[in-house]
Amino acid sequence: MGYRPETRSDNSDQTSKAYQQNYQKDQRAATYNAKYRDRWTKRISTWREFHLLDRMLRNQGRVKVLLDLPCGGGRLSPPMAHFTDLLIEADVAVGQLRYGRVHGQVSTRQVWMSASGFHIPLRDASIDGTVCVRLTHHLLTEAEQERLVRELLRVSKRFLIMSFFDYYSPKNTLRRLRRPFNRKPSKSTMKVRELQRLAQDCGATLVECPALFLISSGHRYALMVKDKA
Ligand SMILES: C[S@@+](CC[C@H](N)C(=O)[O-])C[C@H]1O[C@@H](n2cnc3c(N)ncnc32)[C@H](O)[C@@H]1O
Repeated sequence: MGYRPETRSDNSDQTSKAYQQNYQKDQRAATYNAKYRDRWTKRISTWREFHLLDRMLRNQGRVKVLLDLPCGGGRLSPPMAHFTDLLIEADVAVGQLRYGRVHGQVSTRQVWMSASGFHIPLRDASIDGTVCVRLTHHLLTEAEQERLVRELLRVSKRFLIMSFFDYYSPKNTLRRLRRPFNRKPSKSTMKVRELQRLAQDCGATLVECPALFLISSGHRYALMVKDKA
């Protein structure tokens, strides 16, 4: 990953604009996607993510329209394809979208859309569900994380599945304890209770937060289901 946040703060002047530029070029996008294809550790992670998505989406039942944002090069499109008639693949980076159109074709109908997660060009509750994997931990501030989650829940009629890096995960706890000695930058994390509050504020309920791996990863998936009106 070319860009890493050096510090984590709540200064709302800070934004993650630099990260949005990372995969605009085809070559950068290809390198990112090759890493997930070629490294065995990444392949294990993708296998586990396929499994989690398959289970969570199956529980929601088949839908008409699902939004995959950010879609990257379409790494996670296969498990989504089984549960929707139309998959909208959205990303801020044109390089990723171009990569996905060539390498990320799946068995269901797909459209590719260039869009920022902060301004999704869709009406309120216009799609059934959204999947947002591996974006929140690249955002620099809590304000940006919150803005993204609110926007994803705005466009979703029924549910949101998203990943986050858990503040209280063993991996992050160890990192925090070591920090005074190795001065490694802190990670951009979220807390389960923050997500519970955010979901509630947007008329949804946080239903579950399974960990990707208990010890070796700090990432968790979160399922938020919109409350019935
Ligand atoms: C780590 S990749 C994850 C891609 C995919 N979800 C996956 O798990 O393979 C993060 C992606 O977020 C995209 N991105 C960064 N900022 C974004 C934003 N504000 N809105 C939409 N996409 C963004 C990047 O271009 C990149 O493709």
